[in-house]
Amino acid sequence: MSFADSLKPWRRLGVLVSGKGSNLATILSAIAEGQLMGEVACVLSDTPDAPALAHAQNHGVLTQIFPRKDFLSRQARDAAMAQFLREQRVDLVFLAGYMRVLEPVFLETVGAPVLNIHPSLLPSFRGLHAVEQALAAGVKIAGCTVHGVVSDVDAGPILAQAAVPVKNNDTAETLHRRIQEQEHRIVLETLWRLQQKGE
Ligand code: GRF
Repeated sequence: MSFADSLKPWRRLGVLVSGKGSNLATILSAIAEGQLMGEVACVLSDTPDAPALAHAQNHGVLTQIFPRKDFLSRQARDAAMAQFLREQRVDLVFLAGYMRVLEPVFLETVGAPVLNIHPSLLPSFRGLHAVEQALAAGVKIAGCTVHGVVSDVDAGPILAQAAVPVKNNDTAETLHRRIQEQEHRIVLETLWRLQQKGE
């Protein structure tokens, strides 16, 4: 089955986070305000003190931590996360600032398509520090991408993109802030569009 064929209207979203969680907060608010149907079934994190977890807890969403030290290997951790998501019957997984590369066992066993938001116009600037990479390359247009997750990092099918002009005096921080405004928009648009699929 192609990645596009695996995308179905979703009802139960599983979200993986490592950091501040502004994308997660945007999704939770859109659901609370009725702009998106469905629910965030659970939020998983590798990082026990990720600020993103507070957003989930404020919305009464189940959270579960999977610290590396609790597992024999990265494979064991990722297999346990996939099993947890299956048990929660999620039908779509969203990586909203999840900062680890998932082991193949995760994608092989999770049983739902997995999407990621990345702060560059892929295929440029894959991997970590994408905003810094864009500034170092001197590009005049940066941006963000929602894409399907496959075993190669940031190499899956592109579902949505937004461009953000780079200003002369931009730092990684100021540029990332403007990119994140667009991230929030295209994440919601993509999740909304998937819900319309087939209707
Ligand atoms: C975003 O810039 C996203 O593109 C990248 O990680 C960051 C997460 O931000 N993958 P937040 O935690 O959603 O605020």
